[in-house]
Amino acid sequence: MNIGVSLLLSPTLWLFGLSTVTPGVMAGSISNPWKGQPARPATYHLEAETLVTAQRLDSAVALSFPLFDTSSILPGFDATTQGASNDVVLRHIVTTMTTISGTGETVAVTGLLAVPVSANNTIPVVSWQHGTILSFDQVPSHMVKLSDPNYNVTDDADSLETLFNIQRFAANRFAVIAADYIGKGPLREGRGEAYVVKGATTQTCGALNTLWLHQALRSNGIDIEATAVASPFSDLDQAWRYWSGKVIFPLPKGLESYPPLAAWIAPCMIVALGSYELYYNLPGLMETAVRPQYRELAERNWQDYNISAIDPSNSPNSTNLLADSFWKGCTNDHISALQRQLIRNAAIDWEYDSPIRFYYGLADEAVHLAMVTRTVAAGGRYAAGIQVARASHRATFLAGLYGSGASLDGFDNVLSWFQSKA
Ligand SMILES: *[C@@H]1O[C@H](CO)[C@@H](O)[C@H](O)[C@H]1NC(C)=O
Ligand SMILES: *[C@@H]1O[C@H](CO)[C@@H](O)[C@H](O)[C@H]1NC(C)=O
Ligand SMILES: *[C@@H]1O[C@H](CO)[C@@H](O)[C@H](O)[C@H]1NC(C)=O
Ligand SMILES: *[C@@H]1O[C@H](CO)[C@@H](O)[C@H](O)[C@H]1NC(C)=O
Repeated sequence: MNIGVSLLLSPTLWLFGLSTVTPGVMAGSISNPWKGQPARPATYHLEAETLVTAQRLDSAVALSFPLFDTSSILPGFDATTQGASNDVVLRHIVTTMTTISGTGETVAVTGLLAVPVSANNTIPVVSWQHGTILSFDQVPSHMVKLSDPNYNVTDDADSLETLFNIQRFAANRFAVIAADYIGKGPLREGRGEAYVVKGATTQTCGALNTLWLHQALRSNGIDIEATAVASPFSDLDQAWRYWSGKVIFPLPKGLESYPPLAAWIAPCMIVALGSYELYYNLPGLMETAVRPQYRELAERNWQDYNISAIDPSNSPNSTNLLADSFWKGCTNDHISALQRQLIRNAAIDWEYDSPIRFYYGLADEAVHLAMVTRTVAAGGRYAAGIQVARASHRATFLAGLYGSGASLDGFDNVLSWFQSKA
């Protein structure tokens, strides 16, 4: 069965996007992209397919589930009610060359296509944007490794978020497409990542989060039926100030504490600095922005992404990574340019014209609820916020896919919601 091309060009295509920004953030949208527009020629090719059984997906999810349900907010994975309802075919998808905004480079990028084995000619499509991952290889297309019956999926080597999406959507009658992003995956060729760089990621079929993707689709006149995002830090300037301890939000009513900021935020900021230096042409940015004692470590981490190589006795965290001068007036042109770019790349001033759900956790170690409710409030009547009590960053992601009214403040999960729309 080769339905890739007809599916992607079908005038009745539905598109749903999910995105992660760090280990475990989700966002998504459903759309009907080419309604009323002429069919476009394919701009990609598909590589050999591999079949993964429903049972294999269920057992991999059963093993991975507890890694995300960090505070046990869900009853656990139950294959009888949450199991895959069909086997899935996985394929590498490779785009034809695309030109990167910012550097003008022409590159090919890879991704994953997962299709239910019994798919008809036209089926709803989930476009899952994994977003940002702190490794070169844990990309969605890595999941084709499941073709090896002896391959065990692990948190260190795989994109478990992608596994959950395949098991949820592809195994329940949606096609799933997921981009690997520039600077990652089999065609990386030593290229630096474009981490939270808006133009480059949106163009190469991904986004910091689905808010960017949603806005890009709507700007191109593409209809969107519904969108779901989880734990989005939609304003990078605000996020950097929060992570750096420059902005403090009051403790939400009813909560006794908020978790400390995650250790993985500093590596995320390092990779973002490297990316902004590269894609916004700000040479020397990393060196100027980072405190002298962490410069060498930051440069090395940007090159090798090896978190185990960071000496714990000299590891920066999100509050002490940046130079003291960073937030004090204009001390350096490139730091100012970075700050303008972070402000410009915010996705907070959009009036949504179709339903959008923001799932957010009340124990998220990177995103405070004040960062989410602001975007919901500005989003207009179609925007709704869904609180996930006691949920960490990863648990919010998992609950968005597998939770029920009990964990989702009375709302249903994204699969049920999208099934009701498709
Ligand atoms: C394909 O269509 C048939 C008949 O409408 C339906 O029973 C089946 O579930 C569809 N397959 C998928 C994967 O949606
Ligand atoms: C995969 O996991 C199974 C069950 O835990 C184990 O028996 C097997 O050796 C593992 N395979 C590899 C290649 O590590
Ligand atoms: C990462 O760093 C550790 C500690 O220095 C080292 O043992 C390991 O080989 C490195 N991994 C890679 C992929 O370079
Ligand atoms: C970062 O480390 C400093 C000590 O160097 C400590 O005072 C601060 O609380 C830490 N911040 C976070 C967010 O862990």
